[in-house]
Amino acid sequence: MEVVFASQSETQPEDWVCAFQEALPGMRVRAWGDGSAAGGAEIALVWNPPADLFEREPRLRIVFTLGAGVDALLRMPGRPAHVPIVRLEDGGMAVQMAEYVLHFLLRAARGFGRYAQFQAQGRWQRLDDIVREDWPVGIMGAGVLGARVARTIAALEYPVAAWSRSGRAPEGIEGYGGDEGLSAFLGRTRVLVNILPLTAQTEGILCRRVFERMRPHGYLINIARGRHLVEDDLLAALDGGLLEGAALDVFAQEPLPPGHPFWAHPRLQITPHIAGASLVGQTVRQISAKIQAFQRGEPVSGMIDPELQY
Ligand code: NAP
Ligand code: GLV
Repeated sequence: MEVVFASQSETQPEDWVCAFQEALPGMRVRAWGDGSAAGGAEIALVWNPPADLFEREPRLRIVFTLGAGVDALLRMPGRPAHVPIVRLEDGGMAVQMAEYVLHFLLRAARGFGRYAQFQAQGRWQRLDDIVREDWPVGIMGAGVLGARVARTIAALEYPVAAWSRSGRAPEGIEGYGGDEGLSAFLGRTRVLVNILPLTAQTEGILCRRVFERMRPHGYLINIARGRHLVEDDLLAALDGGLLEGAALDVFAQEPLPPGHPFWAHPRLQITPHIAGASLVGQTVRQISAKIQAFQRGEPVSGMIDPELQY
């Protein structure tokens, strides 16, 4: 079986190709555009693939993504609907996302941002002791990544709840489900963490109506997709005092363009889509095991439901 590796985001695709070739000795793994004849691949390994992937590889039977979110792939023109898509489940990302959320939660709740300002002023000043009940965290998305974040924050004794489509939540975490559960979930949440997939249902979900329903002095952490957020609503919420701050890892346009109002906003923390990177070793092991299951005709986990879009 022939496998093509097609990612425009990778500067060193050879590293991935070699790792996959080693893990799949019975197959031929080649990089997109490596000079050998295209057209014979039955399996594609993709992240941000070239626009003509499906045109030039008409024999594809399945596509595996090197990341968790499949929104961009689902939007690709010319993608044959009959070719299933299988996403990465964790791949080393979950623990990094837990670290990311913990960092910004602690910065807000323990006042570390303010202590940095005090140091710059040569000022020795203590803030009030923390009351954990004042910092209820609400996680939108209780999937592979959201569940790990929820468990990590709960282990530090912050009140944590999760919101999902079905209402499922990790054991020991309060769960809310669907449109009916959203108001109650937001009403108990001060630190809102978004780890939802981007779908027709979730696009623009981080908007004024959501910020208004949160507890006062709220804080937003968006580590899912930029298009979940209505940017003007966030700026208005920050400037109008509805939210105290936000940490943003993802943007509607990436890289975030120079001069964008987010760059200089004093209450925004910006990072360049690094909250959870797919780590080569874990990713290759997981996808190779899935490819072998596919080859044996067994069920493959992480298959995208075309209706749900995740
Ligand atoms: P997942 O395992 O598929 O979990 C998705 C969760 O979202 C599930 O709990 C699901 O509910 C919930 N959900 C989906 N649609 C919903 C809706 N309309 N209303 C309420 N809840 C809904 O996904 P994952 O692996 O955790 O990844 C989540 C997202 O993180 C990815 O899609 C990607 O966009 C983003 N991501 C970002 C980075 C980064 O570096 N910033 C890295 C990796 C991933 P059910 O439990 O009921 O199904
Ligand atoms: C990264 O954003 C991913 O979806 O894996």
